[in-house]
Amino acid sequence: MSALSGAITVAALAGIASSAQLPQTLTVGVIGDFGWTGWNPAPATFCSDIMPKLQAANVTIPRELQNDCDPGDRTYINNATALQTDTASYIGQVCQRKGCSAFVSVGDNFYDSGVDFTTGGVTRFQEAWVDMYTGPAFNNKRWYQCLGNHDIVKGQAGVDFETKIAPIYDDRWYFGTQGLPYYSYDIQGRDWTATFVVVDSDCFIESYQESTSVYQNEYTTTCHQDTQTQVDFLEQAFANSKAEWKFLQLHHGFQSSSTNYTELWPLINIVEKHKATVLNGHDHCLAHYYGNQTNFILSGGAGYPQAGDCNNGVPLGPYAKWLGANNQSAANGFVTLDISKNSIVVEYYARDMKFEGGDLYPVPNDLTPSYNFTITQQSQ
Ligand SMILES: *[C@@H]1O[C@H](CO)[C@@H](O)[C@H](O)[C@H]1NC(C)=O
Ligand SMILES: *[C@@H]1O[C@H](CO)[C@@H](O)[C@H](O)[C@H]1NC(C)=O
Ligand SMILES: *[C@@H]1O[C@H](CO)[C@@H](O)[C@H](O)[C@H]1NC(C)=O
Ligand SMILES: *[C@@H]1O[C@H](CO)[C@@H](O)[C@H](O)[C@H]1NC(C)=O
Ligand SMILES: *[C@@H]1O[C@H](CO)[C@@H](O)[C@H](O)[C@H]1NC(C)=O
Ligand SMILES: *[C@@H]1O[C@H](CO)[C@@H](O)[C@H](O)[C@H]1NC(C)=O
Repeated sequence: MSALSGAITVAALAGIASSAQLPQTLTVGVIGDFGWTGWNPAPATFCSDIMPKLQAANVTIPRELQNDCDPGDRTYINNATALQTDTASYIGQVCQRKGCSAFVSVGDNFYDSGVDFTTGGVTRFQEAWVDMYTGPAFNNKRWYQCLGNHDIVKGQAGVDFETKIAPIYDDRWYFGTQGLPYYSYDIQGRDWTATFVVVDSDCFIESYQESTSVYQNEYTTTCHQDTQTQVDFLEQAFANSKAEWKFLQLHHGFQSSSTNYTELWPLINIVEKHKATVLNGHDHCLAHYYGNQTNFILSGGAGYPQAGDCNNGVPLGPYAKWLGANNQSAANGFVTLDISKNSIVVEYYARDMKFEGGDLYPVPNDLTPSYNFTITQQSQ
C-alpha cells in the first residue's frame, strides 16, 4: 500500500488494490462558495432598529449577529437556496457523465456565519451539505475541504466544527488528519501523483484585523500573527513532494476582477517557484487568470453568482483569460480537472442561467464546457 493517505482513499473508494490498477486519468471537481441553504438572516427590525440602539448603549453585538444582518446577503438568500440546489443537481449531472473521483472545496461552505457544534450548526450542516450533495455522482466521493471567510465568523468554534466534528459526522468530509485548518494530501493516478496544499487564507487578509470587521476574532487575530507557519507548511509540502502536479487550494484570490489580495504573495511566490497551480474561490463566478507565470483557477460559482465579481465579463487586463459573466449575470457552475501524467485539462462548466425574467447567461449545451485550457508544464 502507498503511504499517501489521499491516494489510498481514491483507490480504496474505487475498490482498487494497487497503483497499477489506478486509472491513467482522474477527474476532480473544484467547487466553491456554495453553502446557502437553511440560512436565516436576523429579523429585519432587529437589524434596522434594535441593533443601532444596542450599539448606542455600548452593548457589544456578536460578530455572527452583525454578519447575519448583512444587507446584500439578506437579499441574496431569496434566490440563493434554489441556486445552490439547482447547481448541485447540475454538478451531479456533469460529474456522472465524467466520473468525478473526488471534490475539492475552495471555501465558504456555510453562509452567512459558518456552523458550530450546536443544534443550529448541525441542522445547517445536514441540509446545506450532507443532504444537498447526494446521488450517484456524490455518494462515497471524498470532499477535500477548505475554510473561507464565512466559515470563520464564529471563530475557533466554527473552525473546530469543520476540521474536527464534520469529518466524523460524514466520512466524505475530509480535513486532513491533524484537525488543523491547513493540511496537504496526494491524489494518485496510475503513473502520476498530484500534491494539494490547503491553507486558511483568512489569516492573511489585513482588513480582517480591523476592529470593525465581522471577521475579526480571537482565531483570526492569532493566526494572523503566525502566517509564517502556513507559508512554511506550503514550502515544505511542495519541497518534499516529487509529484508531477502541485496545487495550492485556498479561498481568496491573488488575481481577481474585484479584489486582488496581494497579501497572499508569500504563498504565491512559493507556487510560482514550484510551477504549481492555484485553486481559489471568494468571487462568486468562474474565471481563469494568468499572472506571475501561474494559472489561477477561480471556481466560486456553486451558490449565488455575482456578475460584478467577474467585472460583468469585461477583462481588466490581459491577465483575465476567461470570465464566466456578462452584463446581466454570472454563471453558476464549477471546474473539473482531468489529471493525467502529461497534462491537466481544465474545464469550466457554466450553467445555463434561465430565470423567470429570461435567459440571463445563455449556454446552448451546458453539459459541455464553456471554456477549457490545458496545463502541460509539470510542477517542480
Ligand atoms: C459609550 O462609550 C463611549 C466611549 O467609551 C462613551 O463616550 C459613551 O458615553 C458611552 N455611552 C453610553 C450610553 O454608555
Ligand atoms: C431572484 O430571481 C428572480 C427570478 O426568478 C429575479 O427576478 C430576481 O431579480 C432575483 N433576485 C435576486 C436578489 O437575485
Ligand atoms: C488585479 O491585478 C491585475 C494585474 O495582475 C490588474 O490588471 C487588475 O486591475 C487588478 N484588479 C483589481 C480589481 O485591482
Ligand atoms: C508578480 O510578482 C511581482 C513581485 O515579484 C509583483 O510586483 C507583480 O505585481 C506580480 N505580478 C502580478 C501579475 O501579480
Ligand atoms: C449587454 O450585452 C449585450 C450583448 O453584448 C448588449 O446587446 C446589451 O446592450 C448590453 N446591455 C447593457 C445594459 O449594457
Ligand atoms: C477547448 O477549447 C478549445 C479552444 O481553446 C476548443 O477548440 C475545444 O473545442 C474545447 N474543447 C472542449 C471539450 O470544449
